[in-house]
Amino acid sequence: MSITLTNKIEITKATTSKINSVDFDNLSFGAVFTDHLFECDFKNGAWQTPVIKPYAPFSLDPSAKVFHYGQAIFEGMKAYKDEDDAIWLFRPDENFKRFNSSATRMAMPEVPEEIFIGGLNELLKIDAKWVQKGNGSSMYIRPFMIATGAGVVANPSDEYKFMIILSPAQAYYAGEVKVVIAEHYSRAANGGIGAAKAAGNYAGQFYPTTLANKDGFQQIIWTDDATHTKLEEAGTMNVFFRINDTLLTAPTSERILDGITRKSLLAMAEKEGIKTEVRSVLASELVEAAKNDSLKEIFGAGTAAVISPIKGFSYKDEYYEMTKPADSYAELLKEKLTSLQNKLSEDTFGWTVKV
Ligand code: COI
Repeated sequence: MSITLTNKIEITKATTSKINSVDFDNLSFGAVFTDHLFECDFKNGAWQTPVIKPYAPFSLDPSAKVFHYGQAIFEGMKAYKDEDDAIWLFRPDENFKRFNSSATRMAMPEVPEEIFIGGLNELLKIDAKWVQKGNGSSMYIRPFMIATGAGVVANPSDEYKFMIILSPAQAYYAGEVKVVIAEHYSRAANGGIGAAKAAGNYAGQFYPTTLANKDGFQQIIWTDDATHTKLEEAGTMNVFFRINDTLLTAPTSERILDGITRKSLLAMAEKEGIKTEVRSVLASELVEAAKNDSLKEIFGAGTAAVISPIKGFSYKDEYYEMTKPADSYAELLKEKLTSLQNKLSEDTFGWTVKV
């Protein structure tokens, strides 16, 4: 997917760079942004001239619909730099497709490929020196679209802003992750927006997650809203369980995000000869497996977190913990995936795309 913009892109370069003030060895996730951003507005039924300009705050009408009705979507992607200083994206076509599915679900206009992918390529070229080399370093990419049309009538906006911002990244979760299985709150419901990367899906998690944090848990394993028995996602990630030697994860649905890391790990695990099953996993099954020691591992998987091992879980006020096995699937798959992404091993899947 080598897309370049045919519409002339207006580029204004920053006069100074912040790069020398950044400690790339101690980055908090999503806290530092590069010198430039990409922006394209949708007005009068059409996408306008795309722009790359210095990263800076901008103003909107206080009645813009994004503030009142949360008409907003985003993606999470990553870029990597290889030993020869070439920059690579990981499965950008998948993020592009999912972004436009989210747009459709949220009654927003689709973003053309030449704006999404073409704009991203140009932005990465301009801020190329910000992309750090080495396994564990990446450039987190945040494309997003917000409803900018003014007016508090509750209907879809007629104006939108699509932007891409870049944030150099290391690990998302520092330290161990313990989770609590949701018994009351829900992340998503059938017919809702759980499968879209809609901003409100994340805001809706903040309150229950804060409650969980107070009890010493970093994240929640979300369950199905109807019965709270099926395990669906872990916080902001898809979730995998290893029972004996089988790797299990829930099928995608209207409630579950079709994670790109999730589907990549399933393919990699199969290639490694690991037995995988995509099926509903019940909370009761997890408890049983923890009790008879067949539950070997739980881990979350997502673009930001990559693979985040989960040390233990709480369900119905009981806490269960696993001992990390010597042949950890989480460690094996993380090493395979990040080496492929960082171009330190051969990409036999054809997932990496040069900028
Ligand atoms: C990602 O993994 O890219 C996500 O979208 C999760 C985000 C909340 C950091």
